[in-house]
Amino acid sequence: MNDSGGKTVTSPGETHAHVAVYPGSFDPIHLGHVAIVERATKLFPKVIVAVLENSSKGGLFTPDERLEMMNELWADDPAIEVRSFNGLLVNFLRDVGSRIVIRGIRAVSDFEYEFMMALMNRRLYSDAETVFLTPKEEYTYLSSRVIKEVVALGGDVTGLVPEPVRLRLEERYRKATHPPTR
Ligand code: PNS
Repeated sequence: MNDSGGKTVTSPGETHAHVAVYPGSFDPIHLGHVAIVERATKLFPKVIVAVLENSSKGGLFTPDERLEMMNELWADDPAIEVRSFNGLLVNFLRDVGSRIVIRGIRAVSDFEYEFMMALMNRRLYSDAETVFLTPKEEYTYLSSRVIKEVVALGGDVTGLVPEPVRLRLEERYRKATHPPTR
């Protein structure tokens, strides 16, 4: 069943091994994330990209703005659904009837944090499994943080984020550095 007009097809309490959840902050989404989603759809017929709403990191874009940008990307793909979630990831997994978490690992430096999250999620929900995917080589150095920093300092991120995201980033930072004059 679906509680928000999206495309999820599970009923409460039902678990489908074919539904995978790719959670993150996605502030904003970059092409490394997009490549992981595309890889995940080759393994699972349904991938829910889940944007954390109550992140302690704050954010450049609001969760709604992130959802909007991501919905634009995959509006025509019934295998990919974009949703937001609050609180524990395992509760979201249960709500959507999934037990599979997708995470991307770019380098050894990601491993410790990812390993901790995977084990904690499994402690909270024993059926949960985390599937780690590796990004495309050309995107291994990408992070949302570095993308924002480059744009904030006037650099070009063409080819590193989806084009609508690049435009939104530039608009956001242009507004911040050149507030409208009266
Ligand atoms: O893109 P990020 O910021 O690395 O994603 C982190 C995310 C959203 C996957 C993680 O912070 C998360 O799952 N948060 C929800 C809270 C939770 O379930 N915490 C317990 C697991 S450590």
